[in-house]
Amino acid sequence: MCGIVAYVGEKSVDSVLLVGLIRLEYRGYDSAGVAVIDGGEIEIRKQLGKIRDLEEELRLHPVSGNIGIGHTRWATHGEPSKINAHPHVDSHKKIAVVHNGIIENYHLLRHELQKLGHKFVSETDSEIIPHLIEEELKTASGMVEALKNTIPKLEGKFSFTVIYENEPDRIFFARNGSPLVYGKGKNESFLASDVSAVIPAAKEEFRLDNGQWGWVTKNELHVFDENGKEVDHSLEEIKMNAMELDKGGFEHYMLKEIYEQPDVIRRIISNRIDGSTILFPEMALPLDYQGRVTRIIITSAGTSWHAGIIGKLYFEKYVKIATEVDISSEFRYRNPIAEGDSMVIAISQSGETADTLAGIHEAKSKFCRVLSFVNNVNSTIARESDAFISLMGGVEIGVASTKAYTAQLLNLLLYSMYLSSIKWLSTPEERSELITEIRALPEKIETVLKGADQIKEWAKELKDAKDFIFLGRHFNHPTALEGALKLKEISYVHASGYAGGEFKHGPIALISSEVPTVCIAPQTEIYPKMVSNIEEVKARKGRIVSIYTEGDTKVPEMSEFSFAIPKTIDVLTPILTIIPLQLFSYYMAVERGCEPDQPRNLAKSVTVE
Ligand code: AGP
Repeated sequence: MCGIVAYVGEKSVDSVLLVGLIRLEYRGYDSAGVAVIDGGEIEIRKQLGKIRDLEEELRLHPVSGNIGIGHTRWATHGEPSKINAHPHVDSHKKIAVVHNGIIENYHLLRHELQKLGHKFVSETDSEIIPHLIEEELKTASGMVEALKNTIPKLEGKFSFTVIYENEPDRIFFARNGSPLVYGKGKNESFLASDVSAVIPAAKEEFRLDNGQWGWVTKNELHVFDENGKEVDHSLEEIKMNAMELDKGGFEHYMLKEIYEQPDVIRRIISNRIDGSTILFPEMALPLDYQGRVTRIIITSAGTSWHAGIIGKLYFEKYVKIATEVDISSEFRYRNPIAEGDSMVIAISQSGETADTLAGIHEAKSKFCRVLSFVNNVNSTIARESDAFISLMGGVEIGVASTKAYTAQLLNLLLYSMYLSSIKWLSTPEERSELITEIRALPEKIETVLKGADQIKEWAKELKDAKDFIFLGRHFNHPTALEGALKLKEISYVHASGYAGGEFKHGPIALISSEVPTVCIAPQTEIYPKMVSNIEEVKARKGRIVSIYTEGDTKVPEMSEFSFAIPKTIDVLTPILTIIPLQLFSYYMAVERGCEPDQPRNLAKSVTVE
C-alpha cells in the first residue's frame, strides 16, 4: 500500500509526478505529496485527500524543477493528515524521502535519534528515514555511503526514494520487500511502485530485487547488493499498454472491468485450450511432481480466497485430491502440517499481498512447492513461487476485484482438468464436453451484461437498506461471500454471506422486512435446497432478491426482484452468477454517492500484514 514515484529528466517534474501518482492512486489515497529540487532547494507540497487535491495545491503554489519524488498514502502509522503525508524531511530540509512499507523498529530508532537532538513532526514510521540518513551523513563521504549505512538499521518491509539538495542530479533508492521498478525513457529515469506509473514515457524497465539499493540520474542506473557490490542490470522492454490504463469511455474502472469479462474469458480460452488439451506453457513445475501431488493447500485473501474455495471444489471433483483452503493471514499462524507431496497454491490478483506472501514463506519453510495464480506475472508472489500461472485478466485498477475473480475461477477449473489429465483421471471426451460449455461462456456473460439496467433499478429500490444477507450453496456458497464482500467494500452497506444450509443455524433470526436476502439459486444439483431457503425467508416476510436460471418459474415467482442467467453446467455457474452481483454492488455504490474505484479505507494492493 502507498505508491511512490520519482523522476529525473528534462520535463517539468510536477506534472510527471502527478500523472504517476494518479496511476498509483489504487495503492492508497488518503493523502499525497511531492518534493522537488527547485532552484537548488527542496520544496514540498502535500495535501490531505486525493491526488486531485494535491493538483489543486500545486496550482495554487507551483513548483518547478526536473527532479522530484511523489507519494500517495494509505495510512499505517498515524492518521491521514497533511503532517503525516509524505514526503518527509530531515532536520534541515535538505533530504526528502517517500516510503512504502513499514519500518518495524521505528520506535527504537526514533528514540535514539531524539536523544541525538532530532525533532519529529509526524507520527509516521517513515520520518525516521531522512533523519537516519542525516545522522549518517555526518560521518559518511556522501549520500551513497550514508544510504549504505542506513539500510541495515531498518527492520521491516520497505521501498523508498530520496532526493538530497547537495546532490541535485541524483535520486537514491532502496528496496526490501515492497515493490520498486526502474523505468528508462529518453534522457529521463523513473522509479515507481508499479510500472503503470511510468508508461508510456519509459520504454524499458528493471525490476529491483529485495536488498538492492542505489541511485539514478537521467541517463544512469547504479544498483548495489546488500554488501555494497554493484550488480549488473539488464533492462527489459516494457510490455504494458497505456490503453489498458484508460477508462475506455466508462465512468469508472470497476464498470469497465466488469464489462471486460467476456474478453478475459475468451483470452483464457484461446491461450489455454487446444482441442481437448489444456495448456499452461508458463508453468514451470515438473510433470512428474504434479502427477505425484496428493494434497493441495490453497492460501489467499479476500476475493482471491473466495476463488480458492471454489478451486477446492474443482480439485476435489476432477482430481480427487484432498484440498484445504485457508485465509492467508490465518494459514501462516496455524502451523500447517505439510506432509507427503503437498502442493501449496497461492492465489493473488496483485501478486503483492503481504499475507499471501507470508503464507508462501511458511509453505517454503515446510519444503512445500508453491504454485501461484497471479494476474501480475512480474509481482513478488510470482517471483517467489516455484512456478506461476498467469490469470490473463489484464490490468485491474478498480479496488473491487471483478474480472480477476472470474479469471481465477476459469484458470483454477482448467488447472484441475489439466491435473486430471496428467493423473489419467479424465478422458479427452470428458474434457471435450466441459470445454464445449466453457467456450459458450463469453456469450453467456454478454447476455448477463445486457441486463445491467434491470440491476440498476434494483439498486434504486434498495439503496436505503442497511443490511443484506446473501445465501448460496455448493459452487455458489463462495458467490454469496463474494457478493456480500463487493457490497460492503464499495457501497458501505453491511452484508453477510452464508451457506444456505447454515442459515437455519442462526442467521435466519435476522430476517425481517428491513433486511433483503439475496438468494443465488441457479438450477444445479442443490437447486431444491436453495428453493427451501427461499421458502424459509418468504415465510418470515423477508424481501427476496434472486439469481436464477432462465426458464425457471418457481424462483422468480417467490422473489420481489429476480435476475435470470443463461443455462450452464454446475461448475460454471459461479462465473455467471457473480456478474449481476458485481453490477449490483457497483450501482448501489453509485446510488449511495460512494466512489466505486476508491472505497474508503481500502487499497488495491494490501502490502502490510
Ligand atoms: C477485492 O475486491 C478486495 N479488494 C480484496 O479482498 C482483495 O481480493 C484481497 O486484498 C486480495 O488481493 P490479491 O488478490 O491481490 O492478493
